[in-house]
Amino acid sequence: MNPPPIREITILPGRSRSGEPERFAAITIRPGDTISIVGPTGSGKSALINDIEVFARNDTATGRTILVNGAYPPEEFVRDPAHKPVALITQNTRCLADLTVAEFLTMHVRSRKIGDDDIVDRTIDLANEFTGEKILPGARMTALSGGQTRSLLVADAVLVAAAPVLLLDEVENAGIFKERVIEVLRIEGKAVIFVTHDPLISLLSARRIVMRNGAVDRVIEPDGRESDALREARRLDGILRRMREHIRAGDLITGPVGA
Ligand SMILES: Nc1ncnc2c1ncn2[C@@H]1O[C@H](COP(=O)(O)OP(=O)(O)OP(=O)(O)O)[C@@H](O)[C@H]1O
Ligand SMILES: [Mg+2]
Repeated sequence: MNPPPIREITILPGRSRSGEPERFAAITIRPGDTISIVGPTGSGKSALINDIEVFARNDTATGRTILVNGAYPPEEFVRDPAHKPVALITQNTRCLADLTVAEFLTMHVRSRKIGDDDIVDRTIDLANEFTGEKILPGARMTALSGGQTRSLLVADAVLVAAAPVLLLDEVENAGIFKERVIEVLRIEGKAVIFVTHDPLISLLSARRIVMRNGAVDRVIEPDGRESDALREARRLDGILRRMREHIRAGDLITGPVGA
């Protein structure tokens, strides 16, 4: 039997690193939400998404509890990878199996009993929308770059695992096209939570959770008030992206890189 669809995930407060109770009542995440988690190094950002990934029940260092549809999640969500509704992708997520990209995806598709012949190709195509370095079906998984690996795993989480909730821990530095990733996840109705130091990703998210000393310090909903900053971040991000491409290509940049 399939577990019920996810209508919402609720984070209930725990304690800061020094043991003080967190000052929020509950944080609710629904399909289509984009949330970023920001804060200084060591402030507890990864700990917060790890709590979500393991469906904490006051049994992690933070004392938080995660509910699904208002209740403790069913056992199979926690134990059974085929039913696990959250996909966590970090900078260190790698595939250790010595398979080609096409073999890896085919195996995953079979294990989920998906009868869709095109899905392997569609997953590779989607991954290639996220990364500038083209992924070929015959490439070995272990030979992919960091950016290619993350792009492929995000595409796999969206299309093959069909996970309704994606947790991305600082994947932006890996050369993936972040705005396209956010757009696709929104269109697909995924809930996505980014741990990020990237201003553009933060400004593109509808909500921003600010961490401090292991605790949620604040939840900000800009509600359009940051639209000028977003426009500026997009412009600057475009300039930086083009500069990066020129530098990678070995060019000397002696004039403007274009608007
Ligand atoms: N509320 C808490 N209570 C106790 N320990 C905590 C709490 N929150 C986080 N920690 C611990 O503090 C350490 C740093 O937290 P974490 O790795 O989540 O920081 P981070 O914000 O992700 O940092 P970075 O930006 O460097 O990745 C971890 O060992 C984590 O388990
Ligand atoms: Mg971290």
